[in-house]
Amino acid sequence: MKRYHLTTFGCQMNEHDSERMKGMLESLGYSEAPERAEADLILFNTCSIRESADSRFIAHLGEAKRLKREQPERIVGVGGCWAQSVKEEVFERFPFVDVAFGPGQVHKLAEFLTSDSITAQGYFEFEGFTGHLPAHRERAFQGWLQISVGCNSVCSYCIVPSTRGREVSRPLEELLGDARAMADEGVREITLLGQNVNSYGRDLPASAPTGGPPGTRRERPGFAELLRLLDGIDGIDRIRYTSPHPKDMREDVIRAHAELESVCEHIHLPLQSGSSRILKAMRRTYDRSRYLDRVALIREHVPDAALTTDIIVGFPTETEEDFRETMEVVEHVGYDSAFTFVFSPRRGTEAAAMTVGAVPHPVKVERMERLVEAVQRGARERAQRFVGRTVEVLVEGRSRTDPDRLRGRTRHNKVVNFGGLAAPGELTDVEILAATSQTLSGEEQLLARAAAR
Ligand code: 5AD
Ligand code: SF4
Repeated sequence: MKRYHLTTFGCQMNEHDSERMKGMLESLGYSEAPERAEADLILFNTCSIRESADSRFIAHLGEAKRLKREQPERIVGVGGCWAQSVKEEVFERFPFVDVAFGPGQVHKLAEFLTSDSITAQGYFEFEGFTGHLPAHRERAFQGWLQISVGCNSVCSYCIVPSTRGREVSRPLEELLGDARAMADEGVREITLLGQNVNSYGRDLPASAPTGGPPGTRRERPGFAELLRLLDGIDGIDRIRYTSPHPKDMREDVIRAHAELESVCEHIHLPLQSGSSRILKAMRRTYDRSRYLDRVALIREHVPDAALTTDIIVGFPTETEEDFRETMEVVEHVGYDSAFTFVFSPRRGTEAAAMTVGAVPHPVKVERMERLVEAVQRGARERAQRFVGRTVEVLVEGRSRTDPDRLRGRTRHNKVVNFGGLAAPGELTDVEILAATSQTLSGEEQLLARAAAR
């Protein structure tokens, strides 16, 4: 039997795509090798979001080159966003690569492997959803549901529109069918995936509303509607999604968090910058006050919701004053956690051409330090609200720091390490006894659990 080894870089969409790659390879008779050196097929699913992502991957590719030299019949494949961003150049720069494919061409890997072709092949069209390929789930009780691919935004810093193409939504009925099948297979928590999930459906044809009387006005299914229909599926206890865009964060989506039992109390709302001038240069299509207005609406409908975000520091022309505005938003919103990034120019993007006004490296570093300090302080303070509360936890497995304890996640997407007896995949109640900026810790309510049995 042939064996593959796959290394994944990047976001949750890539994790999803990798699960599908694995499912596809297993249906072709491949099995997973624990080490790269034992594999007949060495694969990478790459990311290109920042320069650091590129360089991490290139280091790994060096090992693949060595292994290929030792055993030339091995196949080396490179998929994902980095492959898409350099396309055929892959073969000039890395002649030992046999097959390269973009995120829209994962299925072509199967074609390559089953053909007699011995010449290097590249596949870079945008077609098909990886969501149609068979899945190999990392955990049986958690599943990804790819609702759309691609992105129609033009954020000036971002390479994704060029690596993942125009936005295409999957039909509503197909998604509901997939979700029902996932529930039947034991999935309790679904994470909806898309580059911009809450613009879901804009490209779909209008149809009569599901369940509505005949003759009613034809409408396009929207993201809130999708959430409502998924919430109605038996067996799905938790629904999450990533990533939404603040410009499309409509009231109906916010209300869904309050009204639909399975939609979790967590919203990731990428800020990027707190300065309206910088947001304009980033082409984010919202300004500071519109963003804060979305936050206020969330707080009104779902007061306890966890809010998380992404922030870029050092975007070209960012002044100390612009940066201070970002710090103000951070203090004002009170994020439960935030991913912070130093601006990294990406090939082909508008911002990469903005060489006038580039922020000097030491300034970027200094701003980053201040930002991280504020984010951590805020997260630690916010996390204290859980201490003393008993919260529902979906058990994921053993704690990473103490194998005698368990690890799981709350509906707010907080990691909890706790003492208890529950098995992975179970929902249980945990009393929270302490909180840091990153994790909660507590004890399972065993008496409550016994009583519920
Ligand atoms: N430089 C730095 N950060 C970036 N991101 C996207 N592109 C860049 C870039 N060129 C960040 C954004 C986005 C997250 C996934 O990565 O904050 O939301
Ligand atoms: Fe990386 Fe963005 Fe591609 Fe995800 S979509 S793999 S974050 S470049």
